Formats: sequence, structure tokens, C-alpha cells
Amino acid sequence: MVKTVQITLRQIAWDLVSPDLDDVRLAHTIEAYKNLLISSSGFDPGGEPEKADIHLSGGKAIGAAWAAMCVEDLIRTRMFVKGLYEAVTARLSAGKKTVRVLYAGCGPFATLALPLTTLFEPSEVQFELIEINPLSLESVRRLIRNMDLESWFPEISEADATKFRITKEPDIILSETMQRALLEEQQVPIIYNLLSQVGNRCVLVPEKIELSVGWWNPKLDPDSRIRKIAPFFELSATAFDRAIAETLKQGEAVKFPGATIDRNALHSPIGGRLAVFTDIQTYGQNRILPNESGLTTPLLLAENPKENAGLKIGYALREKPAIDLDFFI
Ligand SMILES: C[S@@+](CC[C@H](N)C(=O)[O-])C[C@H]1O[C@@H](n2cnc3c(N)ncnc32)[C@H](O)[C@@H]1O
Repeated sequence: MVKTVQITLRQIAWDLVSPDLDDVRLAHTIEAYKNLLISSSGFDPGGEPEKADIHLSGGKAIGAAWAAMCVEDLIRTRMFVKGLYEAVTARLSAGKKTVRVLYAGCGPFATLALPLTTLFEPSEVQFELIEINPLSLESVRRLIRNMDLESWFPEISEADATKFRITKEPDIILSETMQRALLEEQQVPIIYNLLSQVGNRCVLVPEKIELSVGWWNPKLDPDSRIRKIAPFFELSATAFDRAIAETLKQGEAVKFPGATIDRNALHSPIGGRLAVFTDIQTYGQNRILPNESGLTTPLLLAENPKENAGLKIGYALREKPAIDLDFFI
């Protein structure tokens, strides 16, 4: 039984990391993956307790049932698994014997890591899982046991990743704890906490998340729908700011620098709505472009600005993540 499940998982893994997987095949692969995750874990995605979100200072952790459904976001799941696969391969090629991955917010299935157990030996990759939701933890522990994958997952802890203290330095930090425009969930404080504790060789997956402001018009053809004006926030190892990490550690609110757009640059095209676009680079060439996934759906901003207004826009972390807008004449 376990053997059959592992053969299926291996096929899913090869599909997800393949450079040429068409949309139809991707949809079949994800359907097969979702069924395998549910049947092997015994997780009940329809249960009421499973649907409850956990509210935290600085954002929320979505309920286990919603975390389970993330697998269905096709491009997200593929680009994260493929990016992670390439990040591990790159570290092995650079001479690392065993690549340690710290997976923050693994959900009920460790969805982004599981396929890699069929592509690498446990001597090549080791995953440390952290998750705040006890229902997700129960499920992921069951899944790993039922699939006989313990050798890849030596450490699984119930912890808040915004406060977690790292004891074994990872080579890769993996987290997908985000929604569009980095609102609601805790990707930014999680990455800030973890990155502040590791050296500069540690790789992030996603490598970079960028927010930009611009014009969105879904009535135009796909190539013209998005007209970016300016990026205003980046989450990456390069953009990491140690002083901000210290402020967050004290539990204080943070406002990131942002961008100022003058009135000429903000001139509105006919029919366009001002929006925030999210671009994700999971690793290398693996990207999730605006509107390709639920994580990158454009966020419509307040009604269009007055004629001749300029705009200051910035990302902030208070009780919840926020985007501050200030139109000026
Ligand atoms: C969007 S789901 C993704 C689940 C899974 N990693 C996937 O990609 O399919 C995010 C997960 O992170 C967990 N999470 C959110 N905030 C967290 C925190 N501060 N510490 C630990 N886990 C957190 C949630 O409980 C949820 O299981």
C-alpha cells in the first residue's frame, strides 16, 4: 500500500518539477496530489474546528481546512515545489552533503516538501517543520507516519514562526504564509524573525516577493491589463533590514520605506483602477506573475485619486499587515 502511494507521489513530483507541463496535465497532477494527501492523512477538510482561523498579533494563521486547500492553487503549488527542488539541487551541486530546509507553516500536509522525498534521499535533504495550528500538526504527523517518511522529517514542532528560535541553522527557509499583497497572514514577520537568526548563505523560498502599484484593467487583452507604475516593497534576503527586525522583535509596529509617485506618473489611463500587484520569485526562473494565482490576484485600492494628485504608498506591520496610501496635491 505504502509502496503504491509512493509511486504515485513520485510521478506527481516529476510532473511538478518538469520544465514542460501543460495546463491540463498540471490540473490532473494536482487533483491526484490532493486526493493522495487527503486519503493518506485522514484529514477532514469539511470539519468545523478545521475551518477556524487562529488570530495572532500581526496577522492570522488560516484554519487547517483552508491551508489544506492551498494545494489546489495550481501555479502556486507547482512553482513552489519546482523552486524548492531547484534550490535544494543547487546547494547539493555546490557541495553541501545534507541540505537542511526549515519549513515554516507546513499546514496539514507539508504540501510543498512532500514530493521532494521521492527525488532526494534522506541523506541529501532534511526538513524541519514548524506549524502553529495543532490540527494541522496532528494531520502532518499522521501523514508522514502513514507514508513511512519519518527519515526525511526528523523535527516537527508546534510553534509560532514569528517567535521561533532556530537551534540548527538551515540552508533553506521555506514559507508560504501569505495572501495577495502580503495582507492578512504573517509571511513578513515570519521571514524577518527567521532571517535575523541565520547567516547570509541561507536561501529563501520564495527568494523574492515584490509589491508594486499600478493600473489594472481586466477588460483589456492579457498583455495590456497590468501597467505597473512603481515597486514599493520587497521581501528578500537582499532587502532584509536588520534594524526593522530588531523593532519587530520588540513587538513594535513597523512602517517600511515605500515609494512616492508624482502626479504625472500617476496619470490614470481610461478604465484603469489603481491596484497593488504581487510578483513572487520562488527560486531562480520560477515565478508567479500577477493574477496567475490566488496569491497574486491584484488588490484594488481606494477609488481613483483626484486629478493632479501624487501618491505615497508603503507596506506596514501593525496589529495586521497594511498598505498605507496618502494622496497629495
Ligand atoms: C497558506 S497555509 C500553507 C500551507 C502549506 N505550507 C501549503 O503550502 O500548502 C499557511 C500555513 O502556515 C501556518 N502559519 C501561519 N502563521 C504561522 C505562524 N506564525 N507560525 C507557524 N505557522 C503559521 C498556518 O497555520 C497554515 O497552516
